[in-house]
Amino acid sequence: MDLQDKVALITGAGVRLGQAIAQKLGQLGMRIVIHYHHSEKGAKQTLKLLPGDESRHLILQADLKEVSAIKELVRNVEENVGPISVLINNAADFFPTPFFSTTEDEWDHLFELNLKAPFFLSQTVAAEMKKRGEGKIINMVDVSADRPWVGFLPYCTSKAGLGSLTIGLARALAPEVQVNAIAPGTVLPPPDHAEMDLSASVERSLLKRIGLAEDIVQAVEYLLKSDFVTGTILPVDGGRSVY
Ligand SMILES: NC(=O)c1ccc[n+]([C@@H]2O[C@H](COP(=O)([O-])OP(=O)(O)OC[C@H]3O[C@@H](n4cnc5c(N)ncnc54)[C@H](OP(=O)(O)O)[C@@H]3O)[C@@H](O)[C@H]2O)c1
Repeated sequence: MDLQDKVALITGAGVRLGQAIAQKLGQLGMRIVIHYHHSEKGAKQTLKLLPGDESRHLILQADLKEVSAIKELVRNVEENVGPISVLINNAADFFPTPFFSTTEDEWDHLFELNLKAPFFLSQTVAAEMKKRGEGKIINMVDVSADRPWVGFLPYCTSKAGLGSLTIGLARALAPEVQVNAIAPGTVLPPPDHAEMDLSASVERSLLKRIGLAEDIVQAVEYLLKSDFVTGTILPVDGGRSVY
């Protein structure tokens, strides 16, 4: 698929990996829809990082836990910049949930945002993609999906579900739409992440470092440029999954 001037919707594009992915897709000539939830300032910074006239791109706010907000978001994109060719399901939440104290609200929150939202976003954009005969969806999974961390079971299992959804969507939407996932290891840890946890991540990888945003961005670029890869979950984890 020729990416030039096509529309890419990147969820959670006001911060960190989402912002880095948006910047790269802008450099590849795409029109970028920067979705954010609370990071309005970050979304505006992302816009400043994009090449070309700002009017080529769009910033939109939505709480993706609401299916009605997802439908409204996609309608807004289509009306203002045109049909979506690339969807990057990047927005997610991540926090510890010790097994015996995890609440129903925590479980529902993580599954609604990390799994239900990518499902309904994909459902909402895919019919148009199939009709136009092209489209790419990339889901951000996690290396911990296959070997869940006991203190983060709802997060890890929501990401395992997203891995399964990736394969299911690839089958459901072929041959017009390619659906893949990236499973990062530790990349850009949250600022409050304990030093000890970080050194454990480094220790449990083959390449003995944490990832950079650029490592993930390169994987996104590869999956968008390939026309012969679908239904795959690409680990970008310094070898952590095979340690
Ligand atoms: N960083 C890593 O090391 C790592 C490792 C493995 C997997 N991943 C995955 O890679 C992706 C990006 O990671 P990251 O660390 O850059 O993420 P992050 O910093 O935690 O950002 C999460 C994003 O989700 C958005 N979000 C949160 N709640 C939302 C809601 N209710 N509705 C809509 N959007 C909402 C946030 O938007 P606002 O800021 O606008 O509120 C934010 O942009 C995630 O899917 C993550 O699970 C990351």
